[in-house]
Amino acid sequence: MRGRKIFSINFKIKKMEENQVFAMPRIGDKAPEFKAVTTQGEINFPADYKGSWVILFSHPADFTPVCTSEFMTFASLESKFNEANCKLVGLSVDGLYSHIAWLRTIKEKIEYKGMKNVEVTFPLIEDITMEVAKKYGMMMPGESNTKAVRAVFVIDPAGVIRTIIYYPLSLGRNFDELYRVVIALQTADEFKIATPADWRPGDDVIVPPAGSCGVAKDRMEGKEDMKCYDWFFCTKKLDKDTVLDRILKK
Ligand code: BEZ
Repeated sequence: MRGRKIFSINFKIKKMEENQVFAMPRIGDKAPEFKAVTTQGEINFPADYKGSWVILFSHPADFTPVCTSEFMTFASLESKFNEANCKLVGLSVDGLYSHIAWLRTIKEKIEYKGMKNVEVTFPLIEDITMEVAKKYGMMMPGESNTKAVRAVFVIDPAGVIRTIIYYPLSLGRNFDELYRVVIALQTADEFKIATPADWRPGDDVIVPPAGSCGVAKDRMEGKEDMKCYDWFFCTKKLDKDTVLDRILKK
């Protein structure tokens, strides 16, 4: 009788563990704080990154092919992100020595798509306890109980989460898109505009909506220097050099 009761309790605990709900930070939230050990020493997040944009991203596991292709790509693009005042921080639920061994292997042995001797110099967080991964909603039990999904958090210089993107284990990220996101967010902040579908620097940008009937009328009558598809949907030119000069020289 006692044995059956213990079995039943254990069964319930297991079910509860399987159905665990992890915190999911949202766009507009302050980035959750943590201290962590990384391949570049300890970090205090996001305090150490105040004044910079950051991409905090998770990968499922060291010594796996998709993750290796991603790390080589990200490391090759790191200087481009840094020029846009954006730092990179990786995380997986592996330990520090696994991280070190994997990054050494990447540098010493892997040649992929013309990239070789790639040194990953941005911090890679060890998170064997899954403390950070759970805080950031990087564990998705429907996908894996033991590996983080490919999460991307773009965090602004004030430590606010501005974009969140999730990919499953099998799908490598598009790094052109991640760079586009960083530039588009900075452009929106700098020029007080919004960016339309598939926007890239040099494309027209969307101006804030008309705030009165008079402004709506003026816009539709062509009195403002913009192109209006309707009164609520107006764009203006913003040339590529103006965007990149402002962002990359900041
Ligand atoms: C990979 O990075 O190759 C990978 C990692 C976990 C599951 C599937 C693929």
